[in-house]
Amino acid sequence: MDAKISVPFAFPVVFTSSAWEPGNRAIVDAISRLEPGRRHRALVVIDEHVAQAQPWLEPAIQAYFNAHADSMQLVAPPVVVTGGEAAKNDLVHTWDLLRHINDVGLDRQSFLIVIGGGAVLDTASFAAALAHRGIRVVRLPTTVLAQADSGIAVKNGVNLFGKKNFIGTFVPPFAVVNDTMALDTLQHRDKIAGVAEAIKVALLRSPDLFAYIERHRRNIGAGDREALSILVQRSTRLHLEHICGNGDPFELGSARPLDFGHWAAHKLESLTSHRLRHGEAVAIGMAIDLLYSCAKGFLDRISCERILLVLEAVGLPLWDSALNERAANGCLAIIAGLQEFREHLGGELHVTLLRGIGDSFEVTDMDEALIAKVVEALARRASAPPKITSSRMAAGAAQ
Ligand SMILES: NC(=O)c1ccc[n+]([C@@H]2O[C@H](COP(=O)([O-])OP(=O)(O)OC[C@H]3O[C@@H](n4cnc5c(N)ncnc54)[C@H](O)[C@@H]3O)[C@@H](O)[C@H]2O)c1
Ligand SMILES: [Zn+2]
Repeated sequence: MDAKISVPFAFPVVFTSSAWEPGNRAIVDAISRLEPGRRHRALVVIDEHVAQAQPWLEPAIQAYFNAHADSMQLVAPPVVVTGGEAAKNDLVHTWDLLRHINDVGLDRQSFLIVIGGGAVLDTASFAAALAHRGIRVVRLPTTVLAQADSGIAVKNGVNLFGKKNFIGTFVPPFAVVNDTMALDTLQHRDKIAGVAEAIKVALLRSPDLFAYIERHRRNIGAGDREALSILVQRSTRLHLEHICGNGDPFELGSARPLDFGHWAAHKLESLTSHRLRHGEAVAIGMAIDLLYSCAKGFLDRISCERILLVLEAVGLPLWDSALNERAANGCLAIIAGLQEFREHLGGELHVTLLRGIGDSFEVTDMDEALIAKVVEALARRASAPPKITSSRMAAGAAQ
């Protein structure tokens, strides 16, 4: 006997501005899209740092529900939850959310509306996936990274046993509403950290987007709203094309083509106890895999340098002292990230490397001695960074 199940998933990703203005229909339309005649029950969860930075948000949410009372009902006041990676580092936060969902009696047709950074989205989406085996989630990402990448992702999860995303599920959201204005209160450091994932997807999929980032590196590095908004939209489109194309969204195979730089990034996050933001760790992880690609002769030196200069020009780090840490066996501690990545993939190691901008491929083996040399090269670069001049960037751009 053979059993074959295919379940189609479809969810809107809406770009808007001032989503909680009563006249803006993005949220109510997203919630009502399957059953327009119904009054939908919803619980709103807000990242604590968003709630603090945007004190007008809670009253605005209340006013929005009042204005659309025929279509949506707030079952309880918004719940403010721990923000940042701390949300994923202790199961108590998932548990608290499950308790709230139970207390207000959300059912499988009810909505959890989640407003926050990638960490809160991952945690709340995970809790929603567990309750009743799945409550509908509408995500309102509030960081560059979450709008450009994790908010539209079909996976969620939290960290356990010191390992990133050790438990989680694959569940697409019901809808995603990306509000440009939501990014205004984000700390500069977090804006820039999010740019790393956009650079990543550009390197994998779009020389055009990379050229845009290179041209607008100063505006992007300054956190300019318009430049970031374009970056977010273009990056979201590329991520969606991957997920909705033949991108193996539920990761049934071992390949993880979008995880460029991530084997080292995840390990660096753990090694630094999340002192590094995810995006910052991704930038360093990409620098390692770029120099590795170059040292192996896959990627030419000029393209490699051009990419490193763009990462530096927008303000991303290419080095952290945790790269110097050694494990008990004397090897660089970062190397253990390869084994952990292999475990997470469930079988063979697949590491994405670059042949050029927009031209990636995978290897199933990494030369650990060469990784150590690459780390040394990054250490040297950190102690004497190359001067970023317009002519250098232009020289790179001309290649
Ligand atoms: N599910 C996926 O496929 C996927 C993809 C990429 C990344 N991620 C995960 O996303 C997480 C990183 O997300 P992130 O980069 O958004 O960081 P984050 O969620 O840690 O947010 C960074 C900080 O900014 C605060 N914040 C968020 N929005 C704000 C706003 N508008 N104003 C003021 N403060 C605000 C947060 O509370 C936090 O302190 C990591 O855990 C990473 O593993 C998941
Ligand atoms: Zn990532």
